[in-house]
Amino acid sequence: MTKTTLPAGFLWGGAVAAHQVEGAYNVGGKGLSVADVMTAAGNREERRITDGVQPSEFYPNHEAVDFYHRYPEDIKLLAEMGFTCFRTSIAWSRIFPQGDELEPNEEGLAFYDRLFDECLKYGIEPVVTLSHFEMPYHLVTKYGGFRGRQTITFFTRFARAVFTRFQDKVKYWLTFNEINNQTNYDRAFTLFTNSGIQVHAGENAEAVMYQAAHYEVVASSLAVQIGHSINPDFQIGAMVAFSPVYPASDQPRDVFKAQRAMQSRFWFSDVQVEGQYPTWLTRYFQAKHFDLDITKADLANLKRGTVDYLGFSYYMSFATQATDHEDNQFSYNEAHDLVTNRFVPQSEWGWQVDPQGLRYALNWMNDRYHLPLFIVENGIGAIDQLEADHTVHDQYRIDYLRDHIVQMKLAMLEDGVDVMGYTPWSAIDIVSASTGQLSKRYGFIYVDRNDDGSGSLARYRKDSFYWYQRVIATNGAELGQKAGGADDSPA
Ligand code: BG6
Repeated sequence: MTKTTLPAGFLWGGAVAAHQVEGAYNVGGKGLSVADVMTAAGNREERRITDGVQPSEFYPNHEAVDFYHRYPEDIKLLAEMGFTCFRTSIAWSRIFPQGDELEPNEEGLAFYDRLFDECLKYGIEPVVTLSHFEMPYHLVTKYGGFRGRQTITFFTRFARAVFTRFQDKVKYWLTFNEINNQTNYDRAFTLFTNSGIQVHAGENAEAVMYQAAHYEVVASSLAVQIGHSINPDFQIGAMVAFSPVYPASDQPRDVFKAQRAMQSRFWFSDVQVEGQYPTWLTRYFQAKHFDLDITKADLANLKRGTVDYLGFSYYMSFATQATDHEDNQFSYNEAHDLVTNRFVPQSEWGWQVDPQGLRYALNWMNDRYHLPLFIVENGIGAIDQLEADHTVHDQYRIDYLRDHIVQMKLAMLEDGVDVMGYTPWSAIDIVSASTGQLSKRYGFIYVDRNDDGSGSLARYRKDSFYWYQRVIATNGAELGQKAGGADDSPA
C-alpha cells in the first residue's frame, strides 16, 4: 500500500468561483458583472460579450447551479467528502453592485457571512479569491475596467470592505484569479474577464494589457497591505495559471523562445512575489515603445505589498517554437506561438494533459520564489453520463486527479517543495468560464443542469466523490487503482 508523509494539516478541498456557481445574478442587490453579459458557446468556441443583458440571449451564469440558494446542501456534501478547505470567490458586484459606490451592500456581505459560517460549522476553512473574472459591469462601461487608475481605488475599497467584515472568518485570501491569463491578449475573452477591457480597432492590445496588468499588480500590492493591517494573520496570495511552456525542440532558438514565453507568462508572479519588475520586461517596454503609467509610488507599493504564498491553477502544459522572423525580443504572442506537444494527450477540449508538468511546475516555482505554494485549481473538463440510478462513473476524472496527486507527492516528498494544499477544480459542477457550458463538467458532485438551462438542479455524488473522500481520509496515502493499471503512487 502507498505510504505518505504529507504534513498533518495539509489543506484538502475543492474550488469554485462565485459567478460559476451562485446564479441569483440580480438577487440581494447584486449588480451585473462581466460574467453576466457573456453568452454560452460550444466546444472550442468563444463566448460572445453582449452590450449589457439582451432579452433575446441566454446567459448561463445568471442561474448557474443556484449555489446562492442551495449552499447549505452543497457545503454539507463537501463536508461529507471530508473537505478541510473550500475555495470560492466573493462576487464583487454583490458587495459593490456598480463598483464605484462608497459603501458596501449589506445584503451581499450578509450572504457571505452565512456561507462562511456554514463552512466553519464543518471545520472547513474558506479560501477566498477577491476577483475571479467578475468585475462589476458598470466599471467596464463607465471606466473601461482596469484601463484606468481609478479602478485601483474601487478594487481596494472592495478589498477593505470584505477583509474588515470577514477578518475572523477567513484567513486565506487570493487577490486576482489567474492574473496572467491576459498574456493571451489577442483573445477577447481573457482581457474582458481579467480586466474588464474590450480592445478597440487600431489599439495595441499588448500595450493595453500591460497597462491594465500594471494597475492590477499595484491593486494587489495595496490589498496585501490593507489586509495585513486589518489582520496580521491573514495569508494573502497571488494566483497565476501555471501552464509551463516547453521548447518544441532542443534547438537553442526554441529553448530561448520558451524561456521568453515563461518570462511573459510569469512576470506577474515575479512582481507580486519579489516586489519588482524583472529587468527583461522594463527593457521590453522600452523596445516596444510602450509608454506606460508606472509611477515611483507604484514601485514602492509593489515592494511593500508582496504576497505570503503563491496559489496557482494547473491544468495542462504548453509548447512553443521560434519562428523564422523573430524580433530581438522574441516577443511571445500566445494566440500564435503555441504548438502541439506530441508527447502528451489532449482532453476533448484540446487541453494537453501532462501530470508530470505539475511536478515541473512545483519545482520551478519553488526554486524561483521560495514561498509556500497552493494548488488552488487542477482538474479535467469532461462529458459525464448520469445513469438511471443517479450514479456517474467518472473514472477518467479519478485517473486525471490521481496522476496529478502522484506528481504533487513526488514534488513534496522527493523534492521538498512546500505545498500548503490542494483544491481541485471543481468542488461541484460549474458553468465553464471559457465556454459557458455546463456539459464541460469538472465536479465531484453532478448537477442536473444542461447547457440550455434545463434540468432540475438536483445534486448527485459521482464515483470521484467517493474516491476523493478516501484520498482525504488517508491524507493522500490511498489513491486507488488506476483504470486498468497498477497503483504507481510513490511509496
Ligand atoms: C481556470 C479558471 O481558468 O480554469 C476557472 O480559474 C475555470 O474559472 C477553469 O472554470 C476551467 O476552465 P474552463 O474554461 O474549462 O471553465
